Amino acid sequence: MSGRLKGKSVLVTGAGSGMGRVISIACAAEGAQVTAVDMNVDSATATSDEIVKAGGKAISVAGNVTQRSDVAAAVAASVEAFGKLDVMFNIAGMIKPAHFMDTTEENFRNTLDVNALGTLITQQEAAKQMIKQGHGGKLILVSSIAGRQGYPDFSAYCASKFAVNALNQSAAHSLAQHKITSNAFAPGVVDTPLWKQLDLDLVAIGSSEKPGEAYEAFSGANLIGRKGVSEDVIGTALFLASSDSDYMTGQIIMIDGGMVLV
Ligand SMILES: NC(=O)c1ccc[n+]([C@@H]2O[C@H](COP(=O)([O-])OP(=O)(O)OC[C@H]3O[C@@H](n4cnc5c(N)ncnc54)[C@H](O)[C@@H]3O)[C@@H](O)[C@H]2O)c1
Repeated sequence: MSGRLKGKSVLVTGAGSGMGRVISIACAAEGAQVTAVDMNVDSATATSDEIVKAGGKAISVAGNVTQRSDVAAAVAASVEAFGKLDVMFNIAGMIKPAHFMDTTEENFRNTLDVNALGTLITQQEAAKQMIKQGHGGKLILVSSIAGRQGYPDFSAYCASKFAVNALNQSAAHSLAQHKITSNAFAPGVVDTPLWKQLDLDLVAIGSSEKPGEAYEAFSGANLIGRKGVSEDVIGTALFLASSDSDYMTGQIIMIDGGMVLV
């Protein structure tokens, strides 16, 4: 590790599992002080404990990204512990598949609430702090291949990730004057607890016949020719958090092994 995030205060939502967990650990290994936020606080604490045990600096905070007061409290905790906020990763997210014609208002609202409104709230609360500090900052979001094309069983999720792309661009436009950038990365199929549940949910709605079938079909469909793991996003996540990405904003980097070429 090169210490390229030395002294940076980095907040990560969804830090208790999957990609949020490995990003938190990787940022700490690069010298960042990490605020691990998750609505499952035990999982966030497991991540921060792992960082501290390895000699890094981290705290954990319970927080639901759909609740502005939770997110504001997480930002405040980060400032209290580390004196400032430099980088915010909003990685928290969810998916509940349904055939297009079966997608309910409840599913649509829940999904947009977490993935889209949660993005807006985390961007705003992090940016408020960064504007106050006066030396800029980085907002990093997670889109998806589902933010690049509509999939039949993921209507609500696709709508939510297209919304993330829009919020990324809107934030880039409106916060550039404060030297705050907003960028996103877009994974393909990543072997995390989210996909394990998604695979079972796809069986439940009749879109695949047995557990593992949907995951095998989706995860094999890429040019690189192997399945994606959380660690595959680390290089890009660290690039976006570091000064190496200072001259880019409003962009989305695909990390999908070559599934969707845009
Ligand atoms: N796994 C994939 O294949 C894949 C592909 C593309 C994009 N993504 C996106 O990447 C992100 C992380 O996915 P993952 O696969 O690592 O998932 P995961 O389920 O392993 O982790 C998500 C974490 O977010 C937390 N979370 C969920 N809702 C929350 C809320 N309202 N407030 C706070 N925390 C909340 C969960 O408790 C969990 O710890 C999600 O936004 C997901 O949509 C995942």
